[in-house]
Amino acid sequence: MNKIFTLSPRLANQIAAGEVVERPASVIKELVENSLDAGATQLDVEVEQGGVKLIRVRDNGHGISRDDLPLALSRHATSKIINLDDLEAVATLGFRGEALASISSVARLRLTSNTGDEESGWCVEAEGRDMEARLSPAGHPQGTSVEVRDLFFNTPARRKFLRTERTEYGRVEDVLKRLALSRFAQGFSLKNNGRVVHSWRPATTQPEQERRVAQICGPAFMENAVHVDIDRAGLRLWGWVALPTFSRSQADLQHFYVNGRAIRDKLVSHAIRQAYQDVLYHGRHPAFVLYLELDPGNVDVNVHPTKHEVRFRDSRLVHDFLFRSLHKALADVRPGNEPSAQDEIGAEADTASELSAQQYSPTEQPGLSFASQSSEPSGVAERAPSWSPTYTSAGSATSNRPSLGTSTPVMPPASDDESVPPLGYAVAQLKGIYILAENAEGMVVVDMHAAHERITYERMKEQQQAQKIQSQPLLVPQAMAVSEKEADYADEFADIFVNLGFELERAGPESLLIRQLPVILNRANVEQLVRDVLSDLIEYGSSQRIQQNINEILGTMACHGSVRANRRLNIAEMNALLRDMEATERSGQCNHGRPTWTQMSLAELDKLFMRGQ
Ligand SMILES: Nc1ncnc2c1ncn2[C@@H]1O[C@H](COP(=O)(O)OP(=O)(O)OP(=O)(O)O)[C@@H](O)[C@H]1O
Ligand SMILES: [Mg+2]
Repeated sequence: MNKIFTLSPRLANQIAAGEVVERPASVIKELVENSLDAGATQLDVEVEQGGVKLIRVRDNGHGISRDDLPLALSRHATSKIINLDDLEAVATLGFRGEALASISSVARLRLTSNTGDEESGWCVEAEGRDMEARLSPAGHPQGTSVEVRDLFFNTPARRKFLRTERTEYGRVEDVLKRLALSRFAQGFSLKNNGRVVHSWRPATTQPEQERRVAQICGPAFMENAVHVDIDRAGLRLWGWVALPTFSRSQADLQHFYVNGRAIRDKLVSHAIRQAYQDVLYHGRHPAFVLYLELDPGNVDVNVHPTKHEVRFRDSRLVHDFLFRSLHKALADVRPGNEPSAQDEIGAEADTASELSAQQYSPTEQPGLSFASQSSEPSGVAERAPSWSPTYTSAGSATSNRPSLGTSTPVMPPASDDESVPPLGYAVAQLKGIYILAENAEGMVVVDMHAAHERITYERMKEQQQAQKIQSQPLLVPQAMAVSEKEADYADEFADIFVNLGFELERAGPESLLIRQLPVILNRANVEQLVRDVLSDLIEYGSSQRIQQNINEILGTMACHGSVRANRRLNIAEMNALLRDMEATERSGQCNHGRPTWTQMSLAELDKLFMRGQ
């Protein structure tokens, strides 16, 4: 056996650095977070050779006093928390007192700061094995600059894991973009090898913020985004979600912040994915920039060394709030309806308890309101409405809200003629596939089948929900083996299953009997479905799966029951379809997530013909 020695401070810091400092981008994240915690309003970042040679972050924050400077570089020293209570309600990005000590153990770090109380500033560097701090006077305006040179110069194993300058620079850029999206009130700039690459000015108004989002996420995202701002029961969700038709092949445009901290969280992704189900093309990923704000005491940020994960005290409440808010926002996207979910779920959920996941029964699809739908005799779900000349519109649908083209949902074109409905009036049918219509902005083109499919589908869902799900008893109940925990959940959430047409009976500590199931579901897959629902309930406290399965079947029926291409429609029928689209939730996309209509403004048409040029 070897003797036991205490690690030198430098080695201890280098071990800690293993968790925090992976590459130049992680250094930048730590330094910029410190500047934000210091109340800086302007943050300037500079890198050379992808950040491996040099990283410099300069801020105009409150600075560090001369006496505190040596402490700033030592481990377990922080000005942000003092006791456990502080940690449990921490509102700053930093709290471990670890970042600067770690960075200075694997690079040459120089910190210069001025609190504004003294004539000039002071500079500190950590030296040698014991990392004692060396202080010297240095000119600096109020604020702090941290210079990090030769990252991993003394840890060759780490250096080997670095990629090319270009890749490292790309990650630096990504990290800074993520940070710049987290705080709009601050200005940020990024210089690479002596050249200013990005400069984002402080953005206080919504249009300014949208400009920054467009600069960072691309103008196409902003053009296809819905602004959301919902405040309920101590939770606020705001930001922008892309329309389902602007989906991505990868989950690469997803920014989620909890109290200003970028996080990746399973619960959050699950809630968002669920909100998009039914409108997103299969295998595509939604795009969003979203901010969740809640009492810092209700979220634990001390879960992961890099602070990328959080734990919510009431995770079911958060899951349900996210799902409902976004589901509502997306349901509201239809022609003539301003795509924004400004605080409208209020009518359905006013208190925390109403939002509680336990009380939430998936039969009442949250966030849905069918006020604008006509209550046509609720035929059985199986009987898909068929297109016939007697088909009439669901409502008068004269909306005086600004009409929105799918191409510019956030900034709607001003309509001078308010009496024309958003999708206008049908002019003709093209090739038996498209409806051409004229509205206040110009020309509207509608994919007849896609639009009708969505309308039929929404109507079938509505009917199916209004009627309660028809269920049938099994002649021979189906036994299934489960874990004890799953069986307990089946007991606890028996109501949810009953509402969805299931009857489950506990047949033993680890077995369930399926006695009854919804008529519409295929018996063959039922066991797997019940299993999946139970695992959702255990993980997230709620489940949409049964409803999703039913919806899928309704979707197929809607597709078959919808007006086919090459069906001749007269003008009245076409107008009826347009009015129905305006009154139907999610009618901007068909059941498969494809767009149902598009707008060509007069200006766009003029451009095509070079009129007025
Ligand atoms: N840019 C800055 N402006 C003012 N003070 C700073 C700045 N950077 C660091 N400090 C001070 O130095 C201390 C140590 O910073 P460090 O990043 O190592 O730890 P922390 O931010 O407290 O916690 P964490 O390790 O979680 O980041 C901070 O608590 C803060 O008081
Ligand atoms: Mg810090």
